[in-house]
Amino acid sequence: MSRKSIAMLVGSIRKQSINLRLAKAIQLYAPASMAFRYIRMDDMPFYNGDLEPDRPDAVRNFTNAIREADGVCCVTPEYNRSIPALLKNAIDWGSKPPSENVWNGKVFAMTGASPGSIGTAIGQQHLRQIMAVQGSIVMPGETYISFRTPEMISEDGVIADQDLRDFIAAFAERFAQLIDRMA
Ligand SMILES: Cc1cc2nc3c(=O)[nH]c(=O)nc-3n(C[C@H](O)[C@H](O)[C@H](O)COP(=O)(O)O)c2cc1C
Repeated sequence: MSRKSIAMLVGSIRKQSINLRLAKAIQLYAPASMAFRYIRMDDMPFYNGDLEPDRPDAVRNFTNAIREADGVCCVTPEYNRSIPALLKNAIDWGSKPPSENVWNGKVFAMTGASPGSIGTAIGQQHLRQIMAVQGSIVMPGETYISFRTPEMISEDGVIADQDLRDFIAAFAERFAQLIDRMA
C-alpha cells in the first residue's frame, strides 16, 4: 500500500476525551502506511458569510489541511443525538464556497465513543448524511464504541482487550483499502 496522509478530526476538545483516546488507538493500530495529523477545529470562529472576503487564518489552515489529506478520519462524540457544534462549524467552513468545497470527493471515515450502549450511532447517521451531501466518499459500515470503563483505552490509545484491538485495527485497515481503491 502507498503512504497515506490522514487528517484526524476529533469532535471533543476535552482533555480527558474518550474520543481522543479512540483516535489515538486508531493511530496506534492502523497500518504503518497511514500518517495521521490531528487537525484542530477549536480556533475557528462560527461560520459567518461576512468573513468570506478575508477568511481567518485558522479557517485557511483548516481547509488547507483537509485539502492536502488523502483521507479524513473523524472520531466524534454524539451530542444530543447529533454531532457537536464544533465539528459542524468546521464542516460548514469547509463546504464554502461550493466551488472550493474541501469535502467533495474526500474519503471520509467516522467512528466515535460514548458511555451509552448505542452511543454515537445516531450522531453518525447525521454525519453520514451531511458528508454524503457534501460529496464525500463515506466509508460504508458502522463503527461505534460503547466506552464502559476508563481502562478500555488508555490515554495513549493502548487497548488491552484483543477483540477490541482487532475491531479498531479492522476499521483502520478498511479505511486504508478504501483510500487505495479511490486513488
Ligand atoms: C452536550 C452533550 C450532549 C450529549 N449527548 C449525548 C448523546 O446524545 N448520546 C450519547 O451517547 N452521549 C451523549 N453525551 C455524553 C457523551 O457521550 C460523553 O460526555 C462523552 O464522554 C463525550 O465525549 P468525550 O469524552 O470525547 O468528550 C452528551 C454529552 C454532552 C456534553
